[in-house]
Amino acid sequence: MTAQHSFTAHLIAWQKVAGRHDLPWQKTRDPYRIWLSEIMLQQTQVATVIPYYQRFLASFPDVAALAAAPVEAVLEQWAGLGYYARARNLHRGARQVVTEHGGRFPESPAQLAELPGIGRSTAAAIATFAFGQRAAILDGNVKRVLCRHFAIEGFPGATAVDRSLWALAESLLPEDGIEAYTQGLMDLGATLCTRGRPRCGYCPLAADCLACRDGRQAELPQAKPRKTVPERNSIFVLITDGQRLLLQRRPPSGLWGGLLVPPEGEPGQVLAHLGLQAHSQCELAPFKHAFSHFRLTLRPVLCEVTAAPTASEPGLEWVALAQAATAGVPTPVRKLFRMVASAVG
Ligand code: ADE
Repeated sequence: MTAQHSFTAHLIAWQKVAGRHDLPWQKTRDPYRIWLSEIMLQQTQVATVIPYYQRFLASFPDVAALAAAPVEAVLEQWAGLGYYARARNLHRGARQVVTEHGGRFPESPAQLAELPGIGRSTAAAIATFAFGQRAAILDGNVKRVLCRHFAIEGFPGATAVDRSLWALAESLLPEDGIEAYTQGLMDLGATLCTRGRPRCGYCPLAADCLACRDGRQAELPQAKPRKTVPERNSIFVLITDGQRLLLQRRPPSGLWGGLLVPPEGEPGQVLAHLGLQAHSQCELAPFKHAFSHFRLTLRPVLCEVTAAPTASEPGLEWVALAQAATAGVPTPVRKLFRMVASAVG
């Protein structure tokens, strides 16, 4: 058997004996019911979905009933399931099926994917379970199964990885038994090949699974790469006369635009530039602040000066220590001032 044939054959055989067979949407080929279940299952677990699914069907037994209902009534039935765009899309989709398809669901995955809220994988699941169409699904669970089994490297959300996963998923489809195969993939991902603690001892595919062979279950699929953010350093010169802090107003645009911050730079140079002499100088603990596009390490240096000359530069202001933390200062600077107030006070 080729590796792919073996994967498919083992999965189908396993699904028949150990997969799930009694879920409410498995007892029908009604595309409306299958559509509803797949939309509910997109972001919600089976156990939560079941009672909602049943209540929804009691209120809206077919696509015509759903299309005829006001959207508020649909949202009311959805209340508590979350991701309410799903309910609005479902309602719009029902109206589309009625107006554009004469009340009958299209059978091809491509046409199903034109309904709102139906992506490629959901379209394939509906086409498979309702119409026996041979189409590949690839939701998060299936990606995990494939990445582990075939040791697919890279973050599955990356375009190139996603593309190769779709190609792999297509290549694995069986000639016969698409329903059991597709259900088997879902069942395996939900019950054995789970994110944490996969139960490889029970897996019908473990003999050929590369992640299992190499003990890489925890590292596959690979996590989203962390963006490397640039690191910046800055020295804050905290000049105090014991009662007040010397602050400088930032230019109106750019980082912390218009806010008051301590002068930045080498303490010796900053003091010389301002014509000040410190009688004591002490480095405080550096601290980090994360911005969206870089990380800043602030190194505060506390400089105590005796004379308190009037600020000579535009934008310089003496601010009472007690008020500094509530002046128009950025959050990390505010934290710093609290530290200083307790160090000086
Ligand atoms: N998750 C998504 N579709 C599903 C289905 N048809 N059965 C069980 N879990 C699912």
